[in-house]
Amino acid sequence: MQLARQPGPATLALVREHALIQAGLGLLGVVGREAAQGRAPEPGTLPLLVEVFTDFADGVHHHKEERLLFPAVRSAGSPEVRAALDVLEAQHEEGRRLVRELGGLARVTEWSEDARSDLTRAAQAYRSGLARHICCEDHRIFPLADGLLAGGRDELVRAAYAAGDDEGAFCAHRARLREVARRLELMPR
Ligand SMILES: [Fe+2]
Ligand SMILES: [Fe+2]
Repeated sequence: MQLARQPGPATLALVREHALIQAGLGLLGVVGREAAQGRAPEPGTLPLLVEVFTDFADGVHHHKEERLLFPAVRSAGSPEVRAALDVLEAQHEEGRRLVRELGGLARVTEWSEDARSDLTRAAQAYRSGLARHICCEDHRIFPLADGLLAGGRDELVRAAYAAGDDEGAFCAHRARLREVARRLELMPR
């Protein structure tokens, strides 16, 4: 889905990261659908996806939101805004639970019908939950954050992101997703 607006300094990097996370969710959807059709995951695909969701979606992206953006928005926003951020943080926590479940499935070597069914369910729950979460951030919370933080505080948040320097992580995880796509034969070898 295209954004109807240009993100401000406090949310631009996060919107870019959403695109990478959504690419990972699309690949997880392929793995989950194949499991629903009786096929075990292509070797290595699920561990790579779990690595991206653990180390990038949570370790980099949600970390930035929870440690840098959301506290700044909380201090500038109304009680309604703070309640909306509480919901988003609870959704991060539910995502962590599902990624831990997917991480357990990534260690499976013998794919029984029950294991495939667990994979289909956990993949669908994580994918749909995080897609809705990202849609809410992109279209409701981030525009609001850009408005609340304009006038200097947005630049402070951007500087805090830059201090973390996550470009290397972005490129490494994009390469992992390309590898998953190759293994799923969605890209030429
Ligand atoms: Fe989030
Ligand atoms: Fe996000």
